Amino acid sequence: VAAVLGDHTLFGRRDELARLAAVLEEARRGTPSVVLVSGPPGIGKTSLVRAWLEAADARVLRADADEAEAELGYGVLGQLLRGAAELDPGADPFAAGAVLLSEIDRLQASGPVAVVVDDAQWADERSLLALAFVARRLRADRVVLALTCRTEHLDALPPALRRVVEAQGSRIELAPLDQDAVAAMAAAAHGRPLGTSSVRRLVEHAAGNPLHLRALLTQLPVEALEASGRLPVPETYATLVLERLTTCSQAARDLAEALAVVGSPAPVAEVAAVADVGDPLDGVEQLVARELVTREDAVTGARLAFAHELVGSTVEAALTPARRARLHERAADVLAGTAALRHRLAARTQPDPALVAAAEKAAADDDSPDRAARLLLAAAPLATAEVERQALVLDAATRLVLAGSPIDHLAGDIAQFAPSAARDYVLGRVALGTGRLAEAEQHFAAAWERRSEHPELAGPVADMLAILAEHQGRFDAVAAWARRALEAGSESMSSATMLCFGTAVVDGPAQAAEALGTVLAETPTAKVRLDAQLGLAIAEIYSNRLEQAEQTLAGVLASPHVRGSLLMYVNGRSYLAERHFRAGRWADALDLAETTASMLADTGEDWLAVLPRGIAAYILAAQGLDARAREHATATTAIAEAVGLTPARLMAEHAWLRIADAAGDAERVAEIGDRLAAPGPLHFDEWVHHWRARYIEALVATGRLGDTTTPLDELEREAVSSGDVSIAADAGRARAVVAAARGDDAAAQQAFAHALDLDEHASRPFERARLELAAGAHARRTRRRREAEALLTRALERFVALGAHPWIARCDREIEACGLRPVKRSQSRAADLTPQERTVARLVATGMTNREVARELVLSEKTIEFHLGRVYRKLGVRSRTELAAHVDLS
Ligand SMILES: Nc1ncnc2c1ncn2[C@@H]1O[C@H](COP(=O)(O)OP(=O)(O)OP(=O)(O)O)[C@@H](O)[C@H]1O
Ligand SMILES: [Mg+2]
Repeated sequence: VAAVLGDHTLFGRRDELARLAAVLEEARRGTPSVVLVSGPPGIGKTSLVRAWLEAADARVLRADADEAEAELGYGVLGQLLRGAAELDPGADPFAAGAVLLSEIDRLQASGPVAVVVDDAQWADERSLLALAFVARRLRADRVVLALTCRTEHLDALPPALRRVVEAQGSRIELAPLDQDAVAAMAAAAHGRPLGTSSVRRLVEHAAGNPLHLRALLTQLPVEALEASGRLPVPETYATLVLERLTTCSQAARDLAEALAVVGSPAPVAEVAAVADVGDPLDGVEQLVARELVTREDAVTGARLAFAHELVGSTVEAALTPARRARLHERAADVLAGTAALRHRLAARTQPDPALVAAAEKAAADDDSPDRAARLLLAAAPLATAEVERQALVLDAATRLVLAGSPIDHLAGDIAQFAPSAARDYVLGRVALGTGRLAEAEQHFAAAWERRSEHPELAGPVADMLAILAEHQGRFDAVAAWARRALEAGSESMSSATMLCFGTAVVDGPAQAAEALGTVLAETPTAKVRLDAQLGLAIAEIYSNRLEQAEQTLAGVLASPHVRGSLLMYVNGRSYLAERHFRAGRWADALDLAETTASMLADTGEDWLAVLPRGIAAYILAAQGLDARAREHATATTAIAEAVGLTPARLMAEHAWLRIADAAGDAERVAEIGDRLAAPGPLHFDEWVHHWRARYIEALVATGRLGDTTTPLDELEREAVSSGDVSIAADAGRARAVVAAARGDDAAAQQAFAHALDLDEHASRPFERARLELAAGAHARRTRRRREAEALLTRALERFVALGAHPWIARCDREIEACGLRPVKRSQSRAADLTPQERTVARLVATGMTNREVARELVLSEKTIEFHLGRVYRKLGVRSRTELAAHVDLS
């Protein structure tokens, strides 16, 4: 009666296969996609993807996620890469994703690539995040990223990944097999067609589930299928499996049970030893004949696997607790090392101090935090006392938190624990992760009080308190906590940066630079050094030492650690953008800011994008690209509202102030300025964001001369205390504008002259140009025509170099009012490029290879080629040299 069904023959599924084939064709032509095949267990997801790949002409990177490995960091990504590249287990998912992206890039040179993850619901969290990043970074790649996932577990996939699939409309939800497919399947199984009513009965009985259908067709003789009435077999697939098992010998059943406990697949010899079956051959044959297991002969020896995961889970679920424990015990005897220990732990249900101690030792020796945590969590139920159990769970949780792994599933249990430093640290991290800042602060403060219980946590706790204080705008506390974190040896790569912020805001940037100099002088570890260098660069930017800052940041960005840490990468690039912005290198600044913001959007960490988006908004506004500026400012405001963090709110306010300023909307500038000038968390010194001169100008323009006194005083005081000539120049401009408005032209002229005398090279070019414009306009009104002309011409040159179109227009108007004709300027053709194309063009024009540009922008070479092709067409150039001649690098 045994039916013959080809192992891989697929019935039905024609539309689905056609869709997959079409998607691959698209990929071949350079349109990538992300496909999600979903459906209930046994519906045929794996089979569909396998059939597609067999017929496809593509390079394949494949991984099978395994329930048992769900917690192991980068397990799935490691399978995909097959050792083609090194994966640092501590790297951020964006870094791991970048590694996969470059491997895809290598393969796609010779044809389309299929990246397949089967059973994605069991993939480890970090691999999934890395895949989500890659999915969103694919632009012009010849790639299909295909995932299968059980519908009931779709929520195990990162929301970002689901959104990509949704946006592309590329989910394939597998429906039950229809009548025709089942008829064909039955005919193939029994060598002749079945009657329609028999087929209908089959479809109904198995709800069109091919796994179930196959089992029925294998188990039932054709007569039974054709008889009338109900089918003489149980309704569920699981019972069918168990029934089939009862027709096997005892040895075969023992082997199946052993395989369920050891984990499929496993070497035959190992399974036989655990099952205590001397000669497994006959038993294995029986299991294979009943399609319960498959046998695979590898070089390393024969291996057994369940024919389907549901067979394994059915056998496992049917074990009595005593039988399961017995098998784990035997597995522990047969296996060695950590595997043995894991089985020993699973076997015991009573407290076992010796075993707990062994697990703790193994965890301490394990360099994978995920694996160590898993051992500790397995040992926890065997603890002799509740306090001991809690300590084990907390030890596991702290390892996971410090490694950046999620622990939300443990939080409920831990919340019930007795107070301890570790408990509060872990709960604080959970609260912080979900934006409950006040609760996080309470937990961290409690953890700090109890730090003597857990000295290793003192640094991490202090780090968190520094970050929280910064988030909440309590700057006086930031530096103190950051210092404690550094003293406790924290390597978070954030403590020194926090020390910079805290010290700079309270005592000024010079003191911040000094504090970081001290940290650097104490020969810190590589990570702390990097963190301190970033802090130093920020202090240098704030003290207007822009050349120095550029050098310091170049050192930071060259470090290999930067590519493994999202925070470092983002901060390093964002502050370089800030530095370039201040120095008047706006094209560079804009490239950095926008590419960093896009990276963050693709990692799902948008909330970190405040600085790059704010800078982009500043520049775009000043260049008259109002719509794009507003997009960034709106996003910044959204982040500020979502997270409620002071630095984000501050940046959002300043972005809108700059937009209003560029649009000449003095009312709005004054209104925002009023909020920034009022005492409160947004009241910052001038060097953080330069704005008071603009605010004063707006107050003058809106007839609020009387309100200018306080901000002008502040500005002048700060010019003196900071010793920053650019702030002094701003103060001079503001004073002059106020004096002119009061009708005191002599004082105005004197103030302008004084401001203009300050070293123009130490001044920010944009502000310098505005000073010249204001002074020029005043000179024209007071009939000093030659002076006016000279000033306005210089201002105009600077605005043109910056591409500050609204200001160019203002300059032109003044020049015209002098009786001169404004210069005709042709718009550069580069203006037709999209932002991505412009960035690629500019980097290529600096002499970088496509590979270097790809690495810089964390995109594939294919995507760079694609953008570059469009740039060539749009600009009508044919070579990199022609391009370089075309693109304005300033
Ligand atoms: N269209 C089909 N025609 C014939 N047999 C099929 C078809 N689809 C699946 N099968 C068979 O059904 C069984 C289950 O299929 P498969 O393993 O692909 O399901 P799955 O959806 O991946 O299940 P899981 O969620 O457990 O991974 C396999 O034995 C397979 O050979
Ligand atoms: Mg499957």
